[in-house]
Amino acid sequence: MPDQQKKFYLTTPIYYVNARPHIGHAYTTIAADVLARRHRLLGEDVFFLTGTDEHGQKIERSAAAAGIPPQQFADEVAASFEALWKRMGITNDKFIRTTSAEHKRGVQKLFRKLKANGFIYPRPYTGQYCISDETFVDVPPGAPCPECGRPTETVTEENYYFRLSRFQRPLIELIESGELVIEPEARRSEVLSFLRGNVPAAQRKNDQLMGKRLSDEMQIAASRKAELNQEFLQAVHKVQTTSMAHSFGPMPPIERFFIHTLALTYADLCTRSDGKDTNRQVVLFKEDSSFVEGTPNGGPQVIKESSRGNPYVEWALNDLSISRSSFKWGVPVPDDPNHVIYVWLDALTNYMSAVGYGSDAPEDVASFEKYWPADLHLVGKEIIRFHCVYWPAFLLAAGLPLPKKIQAHGWLLFEESKMSKSRGNIVRTETILDAFGEHYRKELTRLGQPEPDKGDCDLFAADVLRYFLLREIPFGQDGSFSFDALIIRYNADLANGYGNLVSRTLKMVEQICLGGVPSHRDWGMTTIILSDQGAAGGVRAGLPDPNQFVKVPDADLAGHAAAALFFYEPAFRSLNFALPTNEGLRKSMKAGVLDSAEFLISEADGLLTRKAPWKLAKSEEPTDKEIVSNCLYEVAESIRIITAMLYPIMPHTTAKVWAQLGLGDIEQAACNGELKDLKWGGLKPGRKLGALAPIFPRAPKELAQVMADMEAQNNPATPKSGDSGASLQNDASTGGKLQTGGATQYGDSSATPQNDKGVRGDTAGTSTQGAAPATENSELRTENSPTISIDDFAKVDLRVARVLVAERIPKADKLLRLEVDLGYEKRQILAGIAQFYEPEKLVGRKVVIVANLAPRKMRGLESQGMVVAASVGPDGAPVLAGFLEDVEIGARLK
Ligand code: MSP
Repeated sequence: MPDQQKKFYLTTPIYYVNARPHIGHAYTTIAADVLARRHRLLGEDVFFLTGTDEHGQKIERSAAAAGIPPQQFADEVAASFEALWKRMGITNDKFIRTTSAEHKRGVQKLFRKLKANGFIYPRPYTGQYCISDETFVDVPPGAPCPECGRPTETVTEENYYFRLSRFQRPLIELIESGELVIEPEARRSEVLSFLRGNVPAAQRKNDQLMGKRLSDEMQIAASRKAELNQEFLQAVHKVQTTSMAHSFGPMPPIERFFIHTLALTYADLCTRSDGKDTNRQVVLFKEDSSFVEGTPNGGPQVIKESSRGNPYVEWALNDLSISRSSFKWGVPVPDDPNHVIYVWLDALTNYMSAVGYGSDAPEDVASFEKYWPADLHLVGKEIIRFHCVYWPAFLLAAGLPLPKKIQAHGWLLFEESKMSKSRGNIVRTETILDAFGEHYRKELTRLGQPEPDKGDCDLFAADVLRYFLLREIPFGQDGSFSFDALIIRYNADLANGYGNLVSRTLKMVEQICLGGVPSHRDWGMTTIILSDQGAAGGVRAGLPDPNQFVKVPDADLAGHAAAALFFYEPAFRSLNFALPTNEGLRKSMKAGVLDSAEFLISEADGLLTRKAPWKLAKSEEPTDKEIVSNCLYEVAESIRIITAMLYPIMPHTTAKVWAQLGLGDIEQAACNGELKDLKWGGLKPGRKLGALAPIFPRAPKELAQVMADMEAQNNPATPKSGDSGASLQNDASTGGKLQTGGATQYGDSSATPQNDKGVRGDTAGTSTQGAAPATENSELRTENSPTISIDDFAKVDLRVARVLVAERIPKADKLLRLEVDLGYEKRQILAGIAQFYEPEKLVGRKVVIVANLAPRKMRGLESQGMVVAASVGPDGAPVLAGFLEDVEIGARLK
């Protein structure tokens, strides 16, 4: 390893262990793995970190609901993440867990450092806390969390506070100057406007206050002024010497206003005396009557300008509560074990503890020195504030270097909303691995190939998912996932596009050019212009430099290969994996990594079609023979380049193509630097091809339905104690709550609608062993149910229906197919109750159904509603709703 080897330290967020992994998590991990592979092949010393976030009230409660200790709960879910990454061939260098000793040590070290540097102080706090997001939110009691919509709880705690407010200006400066890079631009602006506060609103308020100030009512007797002045100065002194908040007690608004003016004057004097914003001892009066740094609610606000001339509202950034005493599951505050450290301070520290921070062992110290700061934190857009405000502020306060770049990506949406367990709309990665892996195994066997082993099938399927996610969703934006889209994209781009090009070309080389890779004519050199109209004409994009002249061999495809690579390299640097599919948007953007590869694939395909070497091969004319070997050489060489380009995205399948080209082991080639600085002509004539085999067998469109059914049949997110694999448990914490027992319900708790309850919705772990009693849980649930209006309820059309037909569905052991009569019409409903009800006994029975639910297809059958049932006992067994009185069918429940 050369001494000067560049390091690249890359991280994913650490995933909460309250839910098993789904493809949303896989999305970030895949993107990170692609980058890790790319930077490794560039010869960099890559450290790729991922892991799990295991502390906090959410996890504590999930474990309690599962009836197991939090550590055991965390162990099980963390193991499922680790196992999945392994199954997918993810090349993380380390998997950090926040419950590990090395991590806790790092967190405590950082806490101590922040305290020693004067950035931590104690203060009581009452506010609305969102357990799911593990954060206090600025909403009135009873209001839901503005981020996730779940109910909040009123929490009063004696907390340790971090002087986040001190970092408003430094953070604005760092971000505006580009020293702290945040991408994409939309997220950078979001962070900056959060830091700057609402300047127009502050301006308006100040103008109003100015008017008031001049009015007679604002006068205070001179003697009272003197008293207040005295009290203020004493308080300032106290705050400065003890770092404690100080209370003035109740005071009429006019007096508060006066104190505030004093404080502002004082702050100005302090700023002038030491000249440094971050070090000054500023004490201002707040509405809660305690002396803290900031601006009182209702008082005038100071509008300042950053050194780039952008206005911001001073003190718009509040100090941050960084400890909790209301629960225990966390890293204890050093020297105060009644408190645990705020989960985000705990979690963010993983990025340092994983590379040695907190340890005095020489190898850890050296590792930290080598890898810190991180080069790239890859995160979902919802956690940008934690990474771009809190994290850099903690680091600045500790005197540590900041990460170089924070890159946010968008969300995977399923049925229009963010895929998450709490919304009940997740797709498990395992479903795709199982279904595509099985498709691959079956097809290869059918085509007379040796049966691929399980690992091979998994990695094939992982490549399909990797390609799809990065190709389908422009990185940074939200994108929808659907099984149909996955199949369509796979067939179009991989089976028919890249795969077909590889198989027909290599088959021709094998059959026509018996000596292996054919020879080519002597190329001269030619100058091409890389521009929209030039060799890169097919790559839809604007260029940084519109007229780029380069010399390339005068082979037909060499210019196109140069153009593709010209776009590819910067696209990788800017994490532009693919352009949006929308034509209008594409026009103004530069080609992404996959667009560049796709461009060369289509040019190579075009050359084959134009020259038709399979026809010319029959001719005995020497010129025809030359055309054939030139053409096949060029296409094969293009495939080499395309394959090297695609390697970071699809490491497993490109390895197969590489071997078929006779180039050996692609991983070795990546290590040797053969996949970087790609130049035309690297494929040597005469090289023997490897054994040929299909790479991307075409997928039938029915595979989409198979996957949808697998999702419906599997309970994705309820780890059973002692079982880290996918489990089929129903959620045991449902405790007697009415549920809809339709197709998306029993047997598919990924789709449970009750997930809008902060506690229950995030409960990953349910166990048949020792689950909390039903009544206890139902209380929990009620307490956390968001209130809905009568209009909301009126939207649900609940009706009485009679079961006419009930039967099992072949190969679906949880589903029953019901035909029900509503009086005014008949419906087919699939209900996941087969394990609890004999179909014959249901015929003739009256049930309650949700009649206006959007129809959904399962196992090829349409379910036109849901059956309502109570979920009882630790197994969440369904008990169908019914009536003591005789109710006519079609009656509406109101
Ligand atoms: N534990 C915190 C992160 C702490 S990092 C110091 C957390 N965990 S999480 O499990 O809720 O989500 C972590 C990340 O998973 C998201 O930021 C995002 O990268 C990824 N995703 C989870 N669901 C996703 C989608 N539906 N779509 C895309 N990415 C998603 O937040």
